[in-house]
Amino acid sequence: MKIKPEHHFKTREVHAGVRPDPVTGAILTPIYQATTYVQESVDDYLAKGYSYSRSGNPTVAALEERITALEGGAGSACFSTGMAATSAIMMALLNNGDHVVLSDVVYGGTHRLSTRVLSRFGVEFSFVDTADPRNVRDAVRDNTRLIFTETPANPTLKLTDIAAVSDIAREHEIPHCVDNTFLTPYFQRPLELGADLSMHSTTKYMDGHNVTVGGSVTAATMELLEQIQFVRNCLGSNMSPMVAFFTLQGCKTLSTRLEAQSAGAMKVAHFLESHPMAEQVVYPGLESFPQRELAQRQASGFGAMLWFEVKGGVASGKKLMNALELWSLAENLGSVESLVTHSVTMTHADMDPADRQRVGISDGLVRLSVGLEDPDDLIADLRQALDGL
Ligand SMILES: Cc1ncc(COP(=O)(O)O)c(C=O)c1O
Repeated sequence: MKIKPEHHFKTREVHAGVRPDPVTGAILTPIYQATTYVQESVDDYLAKGYSYSRSGNPTVAALEERITALEGGAGSACFSTGMAATSAIMMALLNNGDHVVLSDVVYGGTHRLSTRVLSRFGVEFSFVDTADPRNVRDAVRDNTRLIFTETPANPTLKLTDIAAVSDIAREHEIPHCVDNTFLTPYFQRPLELGADLSMHSTTKYMDGHNVTVGGSVTAATMELLEQIQFVRNCLGSNMSPMVAFFTLQGCKTLSTRLEAQSAGAMKVAHFLESHPMAEQVVYPGLESFPQRELAQRQASGFGAMLWFEVKGGVASGKKLMNALELWSLAENLGSVESLVTHSVTMTHADMDPADRQRVGISDGLVRLSVGLEDPDDLIADLRQALDGL
């Protein structure tokens, strides 16, 4: 199997990083479940590339090569979770006294890591409405060492113009990291738009089957990648070979799943728009989406995440979620199983309620992750639950 740069995405997602096993011919890279690697001699130390599985593992390396083939860039590093990836990026690039510009809407765990952990080590954070790149420019200080954006943002789906923010970052020689979890490299490739780092919770669409938790970072340069790999080795937050193996299988169908799931999301969004009990339906594919032009300019698809407000506030929202039969009430997203999440009590519970309100994470926000089931069945289930309110 020889993967070439001119091969299309759908070919790369199936084959990149994996070669038939040299010993047996097994078509899949095996789960190299081993702590250590026997060296030929002291002089030939690391001749085969591996020493100890905290520093590197062949199954994980196959996934890293696959992700690089999909995202572009110089190379990737995989982690035990998405939060481990974010932590390594921040710990690699920041020192006491440094400042970070961060999207004001980010995954709750990223907010928590910043405000409750790294702030204790003397790092300052400005949470900025990155939907307007001018706010990023205004927030940059002499000691800013990282711009971290999440687009589309969890859960409001607010978008950041990756190219515009990357231009500002470049002017100030500050790395720009994009959390690309919601759209994946199939729909959006931040490095091609000028970003320096693209990270994922591979737990979501990369795995796609609710099997693993994991994370990845893809870097535009080897220098950035090596800084992050160094911290990963220090923290011991590497991905396990078993997780890499499952993720390698899951991500073979990334594009096919995303096409089907986003088509389903469009249908669900249109249905919700027509239902009297749903107000303010937000999906980047809808005409009403405020940043639709940007969504079409920087990504080739709208994704499969959407949200809406139920009439009747939190009480109605709770009743709705309890009445759903096909949608699972759960914290993950991006899987083939459709999921419903109440962000305020689940993914963003640790955020200050006033901050949540300010950035549009309202108490009645119902987040939907559309899976691979027949959209008509998903809509029928939503209809029965909404009709019953
Ligand atoms: C956008 C985004 N980034 C990062 C994370 C963190 O990933 P993990 O749960 O794999 O640590 C999540 C988790 O929900 C997420 O939604």
